Amino acid sequence: MERGKFITLEGGEGAGKSTQIPYLKSFLEARGYQVVITREPGGSPGAELIRKLLLEGTPTRWEPLTEYLLLSAARRDHIEKVIKPALEQGKWVVCDRFFDSSLAYQGAGGGIKEEILQQIYDAIAPYFEPDITFIFDLPIEIGLQRAKTRSFGLEDRFEQMPFDFHQRVQDKFRQISAKNPHRCYLVQAHHTVEDISKELQSHMIKLLK
Ligand code: TMP
Repeated sequence: MERGKFITLEGGEGAGKSTQIPYLKSFLEARGYQVVITREPGGSPGAELIRKLLLEGTPTRWEPLTEYLLLSAARRDHIEKVIKPALEQGKWVVCDRFFDSSLAYQGAGGGIKEEILQQIYDAIAPYFEPDITFIFDLPIEIGLQRAKTRSFGLEDRFEQMPFDFHQRVQDKFRQISAKNPHRCYLVQAHHTVEDISKELQSHMIKLLK
């Protein structure tokens, strides 16, 4: 059986990735693919427990390397128990955030060297990368405002990070997109939900040809 494709959605806070996921799922299902929706941190029962540790509490609850090790433990469980089995069964996996978020948040934001992030990633998931990555780019003020109005103080540990942290995260996502044109597509996320959904679909149609 042909292996499924692994699609990731990335971007800063409140950029609108999660809103697009159901539209992308319906689009792919209409073309006959079986689709698994998942997210990071989390996506498997064990990783969802780690998610709570990571997203609740104050910004200083974990220092960046500890945070990355927790994320990596969650990621390993998620890949082994959910992502790889689904891909092997020919299903397409659409994941809300993945390793690019670690490069942006723990690397550019938290100051961990990229080679350390990469070495640990290579140990937990050798030769494994997304087939397609949509990177949502939105002015930081708008994204943070949106995120705040829906988090109600829950799972908002990263939202509470200072503005310059979010600036570094955004710059890094732009760099990742520029450096990886074989898999990344930068989405101007200030457009309407409908326009963004059409844009993702037309990009997918090009790739499916
Ligand atoms: P979200 O579910 O609202 O996207 O929130 C998840 C948060 O986790 C978001 O603030 C970014 C953060 N995160 C990292 O810092 N590093 C990572 O590798 C991942 C996957 C998420």
